[in-house]
Amino acid sequence: MALKNLSIVLFALVAVSQTNAFPQYGSLGGLKARQEVDEPSSPLPPPPPAPPSFTGAKLVDDEDHPWMPLQSGDIRGPCPGLNTLASHGYLPRNGVASPSDMIKAVQEGFNMETQAARVAAYSAHLLEGNLVTDLLSIGGKTSLTGPDPPAPATVAGISNHGSFEGDASMTRIDAFFGDHTVFNQPLFDQFVDFSNRFGNGFYNYTVGGELRFHRIQQSIETNPQFSIRGFRHLTAYGEAAFVANIFVDGRKTGADAHHLDMDSALSFFRDMRFPQGFFRPSSPTAGEGADIIFAAHPTQPGSNNGAVNSFVVDTSMGGLTDPCTFYVQFVSTTIPALYPNPTGVLRRNLIINLGFLYDALSPPNCPQLFPYGQN
Ligand code: HEM
Repeated sequence: MALKNLSIVLFALVAVSQTNAFPQYGSLGGLKARQEVDEPSSPLPPPPPAPPSFTGAKLVDDEDHPWMPLQSGDIRGPCPGLNTLASHGYLPRNGVASPSDMIKAVQEGFNMETQAARVAAYSAHLLEGNLVTDLLSIGGKTSLTGPDPPAPATVAGISNHGSFEGDASMTRIDAFFGDHTVFNQPLFDQFVDFSNRFGNGFYNYTVGGELRFHRIQQSIETNPQFSIRGFRHLTAYGEAAFVANIFVDGRKTGADAHHLDMDSALSFFRDMRFPQGFFRPSSPTAGEGADIIFAAHPTQPGSNNGAVNSFVVDTSMGGLTDPCTFYVQFVSTTIPALYPNPTGVLRRNLIINLGFLYDALSPPNCPQLFPYGQN
């Protein structure tokens, strides 16, 4: 698949629009309505929310979505985008949401491109959400997602290392070294340093290319368990592009477009907060530029084999340039390992969510697979 298309499809994989029309969530989240999940009457997972009708720039740091500090029990995790949306009430402020909530919120608050939003939300939900209650944590495991399905399903939230969350993040340390979900000041200092050296004080695709490569090298040299395979290979490049695409104020055009200033970066990464008066991007966007970031220093998927500096290329799980292999591996190995023998509503909802993922990802020349049948 051409890298150009890839930027659109992925994460590096890729409504209403009036200011007042988007709901502001309170702190209880969506569980209450879905709490009493009774197998026979359990509602079908809803179809993906439609793309918004207005997709231009607009003020999203608005009076209906005030930033609020965390309350006791509120959950946050490794994604600065979802953290920010929760802290402004575009997502339930407690950090527990349905995939539909997430798709609506990332489209509304960040103008994230629809297919990319769906790929991200459904893959995260399939990996670490509760498929019966239709709820997912944007951080760690919580009882707020409802009763767990049988092990080996984890339902551990997007913070769970090794499924969606992975190594070589720009502002989070590798799980091998400690809490991989929280903002890390030395890594942010490095982000600033690279932006100064390669971007004249701004983060852009050029900086992304250098920093992404450097973070991978740092992990190869220090983390014996370092891994960047399959989905993580794809998201690592995609997220490096998001920073230049989605965190830059939508009123910036020309030479200012795709250039992120450091105060704004800190606001998102550390404070989980829109810069004051922030406008979302002027058109739907996601992983555009991931191809540029990759091309600066192409690194194939792979991992260390238990010792530092032992990196071995491993393309068996796909990656940025091979979404079909990622899809096949995800559907035929990763998900069945979590759900080897699902029954009832769980099986039904697995089938439905895998269908949503395939429709959004549309991997070229890659037939849909049905590990649990079709109905
Ligand atoms: C449903 C949508 C989304 C899901 C499920 C999701 C999930 C995640 C996860 C699990 C990570 C951790 C990956 C890692 O190990 O570094 C992550 C990181 C990241 N996400 Fe999101 N995300 C979503 C939307 C967004 C949006 C709208 C943005 C806006 C810019 C964003 C920006 C980022 C960035 C920049 C990182 C990397 C942080 C770092 O490297 O320090 N994400 N996301």
